[in-house]
Amino acid sequence: MEKKEQLYEGKAKKVYATDDPELLIVSYKDDATAFNGKKKGTIAGKGIINNEMSNRLMRKLEKAGVPTHYVEELNERETLVKKVQIVPLEVIVRNISTGSFCKRYGFPEGVVFDEPTVEYSYKNDELNDPLICESHVLAMKLTTRGELETIRTYALRVNEVLKEFWRSCGVTLVDFKLEFGRLPDGTIILADEISPDTSRLWDAETGKKLDKDRFRQDLGGVEDAYAEIMGRLKAQDHA
Ligand code: ATP
Ligand code: TYD
Repeated sequence: MEKKEQLYEGKAKKVYATDDPELLIVSYKDDATAFNGKKKGTIAGKGIINNEMSNRLMRKLEKAGVPTHYVEELNERETLVKKVQIVPLEVIVRNISTGSFCKRYGFPEGVVFDEPTVEYSYKNDELNDPLICESHVLAMKLTTRGELETIRTYALRVNEVLKEFWRSCGVTLVDFKLEFGRLPDGTIILADEISPDTSRLWDAETGKKLDKDRFRQDLGGVEDAYAEIMGRLKAQDHA
């Protein structure tokens, strides 16, 4: 597979064309941002960890019936993926209250929900990715009703599979963000990444944060936390 021109440079990844119009190469960087790009930094080795973690989790999800963009890991930072038209929604699933949920509602931190919540943000940097409800998604035709149902069903399935897997690693899956896209035939698949950048992962015993909150909140030990969560995953994932 030949890597061609760079199509996009995002905050965490670069995206390249390939000689197959249906495939892209994503390249994971060590750059870290938070608060909509206002805080910037580097987490050494993060790109390597996020690439491998996202790929392992997507292979697991494929087996569990969630279609994903994953095709093949090319090297420690680069992966071949199916090109999609990204649905401009950040799909957020929560098992425990924290982050923007607590800030927005003045709700206490650390409450375990009876049922996971699903919410959507409209992916639009100028507007700061505002929270959006289902009827507004449909009014703006960001998705069809059927697509939104599929996205919600897949997001909850991802939660079931990953919650159980992380539990087996001694890790609590608190919340996470997903992005979906459309293949040329309209099929909805999971795209982007699943990593400690896009998930909150707490040690099940101690509650220690093993994710990007260490960077967001200047807690220190960021690189060590990424290495630790990757080690936990590898010890448990024999696929
Ligand atoms: P934004 O999502 O706002 O662009 P970002 O700059 O943080 O944020 P990165 O993760 O750095 O994004 O860049 C990856 C980009 O590639 C994102 O825009 C993401 O939506 C897009 N993307 C991810 N997977 C695919 C795919 N399979 N096909 C097409 N685009 C994809
Ligand atoms: P959330 O609590 O909404 O936001 P914040 O990080 O501002 O407190 O985040 C919920 C989960 O979704 C968390 O694991 C981080 C992830 N997420 C992203 O990866 N990207 C995003 O743009 C947003 C809003 C959340």
